Parts: sequence; structure tokens; C-alpha cells
Amino acid sequence: MKKVDVVLGLQWGDEGKGKVVDVLTPGYDVVARFQGGPNAGHSIHFAGDSFVLHTVPSGIFRDGSVNIIGNGVVIDPVILMEEIAAIEAKGVDVASRLRIAKRANLILPTHRALDAANEAAKGKSKIGSTLKGIGPAYTDKIARTGLRVGDITSDNFTARYEALKASHMGTLKQLNYEADITEYEKKWMEAVEALRRFEFIDNEVVVNRYLAGDTAILAEGAQGSLLDIDFGTYPFVTSSNTLCAGACTGLGVAPSAIGNVLGIFKAYCTRVGSGPFPTELNDEVGETLRQIGHEFGATTGRPRRTGWLDLVALKYTVMMNGATSLIMMKCDVMNDFDTVKAAVGYKVNGQEIDWFPYEANDVAVEPVYKEFKGWKADTSKCRTYDELPQELKDYIKFIEDYTGVPVSIISVGPDRSETIYR
Ligand code: GDP
Ligand code: IMO
Ligand code: MG
Repeated sequence: MKKVDVVLGLQWGDEGKGKVVDVLTPGYDVVARFQGGPNAGHSIHFAGDSFVLHTVPSGIFRDGSVNIIGNGVVIDPVILMEEIAAIEAKGVDVASRLRIAKRANLILPTHRALDAANEAAKGKSKIGSTLKGIGPAYTDKIARTGLRVGDITSDNFTARYEALKASHMGTLKQLNYEADITEYEKKWMEAVEALRRFEFIDNEVVVNRYLAGDTAILAEGAQGSLLDIDFGTYPFVTSSNTLCAGACTGLGVAPSAIGNVLGIFKAYCTRVGSGPFPTELNDEVGETLRQIGHEFGATTGRPRRTGWLDLVALKYTVMMNGATSLIMMKCDVMNDFDTVKAAVGYKVNGQEIDWFPYEANDVAVEPVYKEFKGWKADTSKCRTYDELPQELKDYIKFIEDYTGVPVSIISVGPDRSETIYR
């Protein structure tokens, strides 16, 4: 009996999950996304080409892979069909590789309008949502009023759609939000029809049969652990469980069926949208990280906030995910830095603590930094661990000692080839 290995982000998203899943897929038969939706933007680079995937698992470009969109994902048919068209344009036979969970909830055009209306109503305390309708779609799921992929083929789909839409329109009116969804709704209906040519599955059964048949499965998370609905910086979070536990509920596998948990982090930190970010750098160093790291949202194009690596936060998310190994991304971005810093503690109300505090939204969290000598070398050319500069090895060793988890992969550039295995 095989177990499901899980790849997930340990920070605020955009750690490089797309690249890592693409790189690891040759070792797996199946890749399965377990939560989130088109708020995600997972970039993949190979052979001089680049792609951003939102809903489709990042294993799609590998021959022979099966890619499952799990029940924990929320799907906007318009965005999914646009994505599929772009992948098909590259000559990939998506229909033969993609399976979609019947139990995955649909994002309606009115969910997008509600997302915008909710954000507008928040005034200054906006979450900074990607406005893809994620929150409202998960709200309907939890309220047991949502529409699911499996409903598309039922006779009363249109009637149920109209009823849900009418209820959303009522809410929008209460919020005094004028939304013209006519055009998007037309595209949405066409996309729903187009989706029918893909295989809709009971993913919990399919996935568990695969495991019983010794088929290797890689589960792909979206967002990051600090955006988790329960343990992230609520309310500045997304609306799903981004932690490893989400792979169980988002695919229908038992906790005992989880194998390796591969936690991804950048050598520094970024965050898009509002909310606490203790190590944020609103200075030249922050701007340098943004420019060299091309830290602009893959989904929205928004500039990402940047800062030093936060080991307090990392240890917290390693703990909740039970990460068995770490994958460190974007070391190359700091190649020219004289000094690199990482937070190893926080000062809150004059007291030093070593965990991520509940109060982070309301009180000043002042990081306590440890300084490292910069490596000042072009790591993007390195292909083995031995070739890495000693200063970077020291940085990695400190992170391993601090978190208690080994760093098994080091990424030194966006391309598939720019990857070091230990
Ligand atoms: P994801 O959402 O976790 O899949 O990450 P994104 O794709 O949103 O953001 C990561 C960005 O960093 C993408 O533009 C990647 O192409 C890029 N990237 C990934 N790994 C590396 C790396 O090691 N070095 C550099 N310079 N860029 C990387
Ligand atoms: P990937 O999978 C980074 C952030 C948004 C916002 C908050 C809520 O590419 O790492 P939502 O649209 O879910 O209502 O937004 O979460 N956010 C992400 N930040 N990477 C992502 O996905 C994100 N998905 C959502 O910026 O702050
Ligand atoms: Mg992203």
C-alpha cells in the first residue's frame, strides 16, 4: 500500500510549489490538487517556456501523468477552460491526463461579484483577496448551498444555478453592489458545457484504489500555511485548510495514508495582500528582493511584500504540517547580498517569544534577527550541494538545526534544471 506524499507551502504562498511539483512529477504516477482554486498561480519553466497554472495540477506537462483536481478545490469553469486551452495549445492531450472530482464545488459568476462586494464593504480592512470568488464559494460549500461538478450533468442543474444566483443577487442588493455578470455568465455557461468532455470522478475512491495498487501519488497544495483558515493570520487568510490536513479532506485519504510531507519555503519571505508580516522590509533591501526575485503576483500581477526569512513562523508551520523534509527556493535571489538575516525570535510587549502569536494582528511583533554572512556567488550555476558556497551551506545548516527538519532540495533558479538534490 502506497502513501500520498504532500507538497505544500510553509509561508504565505508563492513559495514555488508549481516548480517543485513539476520537478518531482517523474517520480509519481498521479498529481492531485487538494484545496484552493484560481486564487493560486503556480509557475512552471522548462525548455525556454513558462506557464502559470491556477486550477490544473502542476504535473500536467509530464507524459504519462494522471492529474486530479480534488474535491477540496473550488473551480471556476471559465478559468479552468482557459487554462486547459493554453495547455492544449502546447500539444498536451489534457483530456487523457486530467480527472475532476465530482465533489469539487463550483465558483459562480455571482461568487466573484460577492467577493468584490465583500472587499469593498470592508473599507480600510480589506483582505486583499484575489477576487476570484474563493471566499463566497467556500461559504456556500460550508452552508451546504453550493453547486458541485457532479451537478453539471443533472437535469435540474440550470434551475439550481438560477436559484443560487437569485439568492446571491439578493445579497448583492443588500450590499448596494451593482454587478453586471451578463458577459461572464455567458462564458461560464459555455465553459460548464465544455467541461463535460472531461472525466468526472469519485476521487476518494479513485485515489484509494491507486494507493492499494501501489501507485505513487503526489498531493499539491495551494497558498501557504500562514494563509490557512484556522492557523493563518485570520482574517487575512484564504478560505481553506492549506495545511497537510487539507490533503486528507481535500482528496478523501486517511491521515495514516499520508507519507512524506515536503514543506516549501523561500530563502526569504513574501506576502501578497494585507495582514501581519513581522519581518517585512519596507526599504531598499525589500525592493531589491522584489526586483531580483520578480516578486509580482502570478495571478494578479500585484507587487508582493518582501522581507527576511522568518524562522519563528517557519518552525510553527513545520510543526503543524509535520514536515518530513524542507525544500528551499530562490537562494539565487540573494546571491549579491553582503548580509542575510533571519528572524529567530519575536519581541511582543517587551517579552521574547518563539512562536507565532495569536495577537499578531493587533500588537507589534518585533523580530529578533540572526545575521549571516552573504554567499556572494552565482549559485544559479550550481548543480550539486558540494558546489554551493560555504556561507549558503551554513545558512541551510542553521535552518535545519532551528526547525529540526532536513533541507532535501535547494532551488537556484526558476527552470526545472536549476535544482539541487541532496
Ligand atoms: P507557487 O504559487 O508556490 O507555485 O509560486 P509562484 O509560481 O507563484 O511564484 C514563484 C516564482 O518564483 C515563480 O515566478 C517561479 O518561476 C519562480 N521561482 C521558483 N523557484 C525559483 C528559484 O529557485 N529561483 C528563482 N529566481 N525563481 C524561482
Ligand atoms: P499560490 O497557490 C499568495 C492571498 C491573497 C489574499 C488572501 C485571500 O499561488 O501560492 P483569496 O483570493 O483566497 O480570497 O485571498 O490570500 N492568496 C495568495 N497569496 N499565493 C497564493 O496562491 C494565494 N492565494 C490567495 O493575496 O491576501
Ligand atoms: Mg503563486
